[in-house]
Amino acid sequence: MSKFFEPYAGTPNPSANPELDAIARERARRVAPQDPQRRALLAAGTAATVACVAALPACAATHAGAGPLLGFAGIAASGEDAVRVPRGYEARVLVAWGDPIGDVRGSPPFRWDASNSAAEQELQSGTHHDGMWFFPLPIGSNSSAHGLLVINHEYPDNTLLFADGVDDWTLAKVRKSQASVGCSVQEVRLVDGRWALVRPSRYARRIHANTPMRIAGPAAGHPKMRTAASPDGRAALGTFNNCANGWTPWGTYLSCEENFSFHFRMPPSASAMEERYEISPRVRFSFRWGEADARFDVAKSRNEPNHFGWVVEIDPYAPDSVPVKRTALGRFSHEGATVAECADGRVAVYSGDDRAFEYIYKFVSERAWNKADRAANRDLLDHGTLYVARFDADGSGEWIALVHGRNGLGAATGFDSQGAVARYARAAADRAGATKMDRPEWIARHPATGDLYCTLTNNTARGAKGREGATAVNPRAPNRHGHIVRWSEHEGDCAATRFRWEIFVVAGDPMHAEPQQRGNIRGDLFASPDGLMIDARGLVWVQTDVSPSVLSKGDHAIYGNNQMLAVDPATREVRRFMTGPRGCELTGACMTPDGRTMFVNVQHPGEADDGDVDPDNPRKLSNWPDFRPDGRPRSGTVAIRRNDGGVVGS
Ligand code: FEO
Ligand code: CA
Ligand code: CA
Ligand code: CA
Repeated sequence: MSKFFEPYAGTPNPSANPELDAIARERARRVAPQDPQRRALLAAGTAATVACVAALPACAATHAGAGPLLGFAGIAASGEDAVRVPRGYEARVLVAWGDPIGDVRGSPPFRWDASNSAAEQELQSGTHHDGMWFFPLPIGSNSSAHGLLVINHEYPDNTLLFADGVDDWTLAKVRKSQASVGCSVQEVRLVDGRWALVRPSRYARRIHANTPMRIAGPAAGHPKMRTAASPDGRAALGTFNNCANGWTPWGTYLSCEENFSFHFRMPPSASAMEERYEISPRVRFSFRWGEADARFDVAKSRNEPNHFGWVVEIDPYAPDSVPVKRTALGRFSHEGATVAECADGRVAVYSGDDRAFEYIYKFVSERAWNKADRAANRDLLDHGTLYVARFDADGSGEWIALVHGRNGLGAATGFDSQGAVARYARAAADRAGATKMDRPEWIARHPATGDLYCTLTNNTARGAKGREGATAVNPRAPNRHGHIVRWSEHEGDCAATRFRWEIFVVAGDPMHAEPQQRGNIRGDLFASPDGLMIDARGLVWVQTDVSPSVLSKGDHAIYGNNQMLAVDPATREVRRFMTGPRGCELTGACMTPDGRTMFVNVQHPGEADDGDVDPDNPRKLSNWPDFRPDGRPRSGTVAIRRNDGGVVGS
């Protein structure tokens, strides 16, 4: 048992580590000498400043006049089929699956019996809303009343998508399923205190599983990237399983491909490298695309899975631009891609690989980003160094470079080039001796302290027979409730190869009957942290993804529906801010630059314990957000504002 875990066990609501809390408080107070604007603001006692990665749109926020860091009354856990927010706040649905997004080619209305065609779905909001970001309009402005909302649509729910169900499975159904995932770019405007989509909009576009894309970086053109549709290995079709996200200081969106393997019909046998990516006859084939579309049948399209598991860069301001897969950032179940600016202007991109016993990665660009010339950053993410994290038991850590020719990464070990290292990043990280984590989900950076936070959602397999047991940074075996780790890069520079880490919060009830399952939460209880966003004031927003199979029934009842909470990074006090409808997960929180609107996604309302909506009675668990007798649960985006127009959370 690690030194980080011992103090929590058996003590209700203990201080996690008073010494480190004091350091965190001090750090938050400390003023970066190179940032006179922040120094002036802090010296004036203003708790509101922003040191986002850039002077670019969504980052250049100043929440002047904000109140206390945690300024709202926490709400109760909920089992209702509703969105709940604190007194004094209002949450309104902005857009849900099937709503037309305002594409200039047409706006077909949603049909309640789900009889919209694939072509219509390509003009409508996708499903399973996940990561999201607000890009102000016009570009370069700080507007908090007009912008582009870019949303990931993670995966399809075939049981909801078709009027006549899934028994008669056809290519037309596969095409609609493929059209329901990917990303949406939507133009939004605040009018009289209410957000609405601008329809039609020249920016509005759907990116889906058949959208032409470019492959760039070290894996581009490699023989293992060549397919029937991409003979030179430099083009790809589509993106899916777009989970969390990132955004660059030059105003592009990073969409991350997570559980891509479930879309493929598995081959009868697989190589060790393929197995490492769940391309394996032992893996469940969930979404049935490969039954009608040979591209998703691995026996027929051996290299097609190599086109997925990447980060896709999308320019929301250029509606005709071709999305690009940035292979230098590595291939794995990319949860997100959090960008930070290094001391010398290079950028780092942090990513968790959301699988039990997988790793945390960082990419550092070779060049500094160009603030004066946006176009000069076009290929910035194609050149740089990919690292993987090792968390040592003494609270130190190291970023290990995954570079061809170093650390045993050569032809003899299956890596013929840097392209192979990127494509098989998991196997490269195995060789590097990286630390196996409890399902790393989102990573967020504190704007003032520069600390990085990562949610580790849970890992019920830790300590199971033949699997690794508890370690310093993953102190519970099994880990049913999850935890959040945070680290400081050496000298606060995200290009550093050394860091110091600590466990920020251990989720779960501090009074849990089993000492091993006790958390150290001070305040409102949560489990399975997933979504993570740190706002411009430094408040840490945590979204949960408790899946009933991970917790006992009794434990699950404590938390109710999935929820979003805010945590003070210095005191670690937790307050519940939002609860979602039944069967959902809350995802993708983001704010306008003024902090007065928060957008949050409600993903898969109505999803039952087995992971699907009941096909015979889709309204059984949830009928959110429409509650129509002929309706069906729809993933969607809500806009949350304070009734008095104040900064959300303050
Ligand atoms: Fe798509 Fe790891 O959540
Ligand atoms: Ca997630
Ligand atoms: Ca999750
Ligand atoms: Ca989930």
